[in-house]
Amino acid sequence: MIMFKIFINEFKNNNFLSKTQFNNHQIIYNNYKNNLNLFLIEKKIFLKNKLELIDIISDLPENEKNQFSYILGGYLNHEYFFKNISFNKNFCFGEIKNKILKTFNSYQNFEFNFIKCLQNFIGWGWVVINNKKLCILKTYENNNPMYPISLGGFNSVPLLCIDLHEHSYIIDYTNNKNLYISNFLKNINWYEVENRYQNYLLNI
Ligand SMILES: [Fe+2]
Repeated sequence: MIMFKIFINEFKNNNFLSKTQFNNHQIIYNNYKNNLNLFLIEKKIFLKNKLELIDIISDLPENEKNQFSYILGGYLNHEYFFKNISFNKNFCFGEIKNKILKTFNSYQNFEFNFIKCLQNFIGWGWVVINNKKLCILKTYENNNPMYPISLGGFNSVPLLCIDLHEHSYIIDYTNNKNLYISNFLKNINWYEVENRYQNYLLNI
């Protein structure tokens, strides 16, 4: 039986998140991890990796599907989010940069669309790749873009994730969600995003 763990960023002083905001959010992420492990133990579900978990949702009884997809998404989505934020300065580069420029014409236009699309949304914001196309998407509740459409997903590969729930910014930004999103854009771990994109390219 494997127990799932949380990914922990090494916190450094930065202009994006305070230590308090960051720690409070990690507690929420950790709770999803605990609930996921508990659910798997209770149901005696033994798996080797996280992505297999998505496949088993459809095998669960109807009354457990929503509960499980919510816990699993809460865990997976936070992992995507925490892995793709950075407290070190780095810039968009590589194949993902080329793809963004091709899709949005300029990096500024990508940022503009990202903020415009997500500023009034409560849930999760994503840049995904689907059928070789780059898109900005939103998912409700804790749905993950890899989930099938019947479960609120898009059968898409997540490249970049932002948590748009109030708990992810309220301490630092009160209601200024726009500023939260634009600061997020300045603190992306582009090595992680490039890595996700390269993995996608290797598997198509
Ligand atoms: Fe969150």
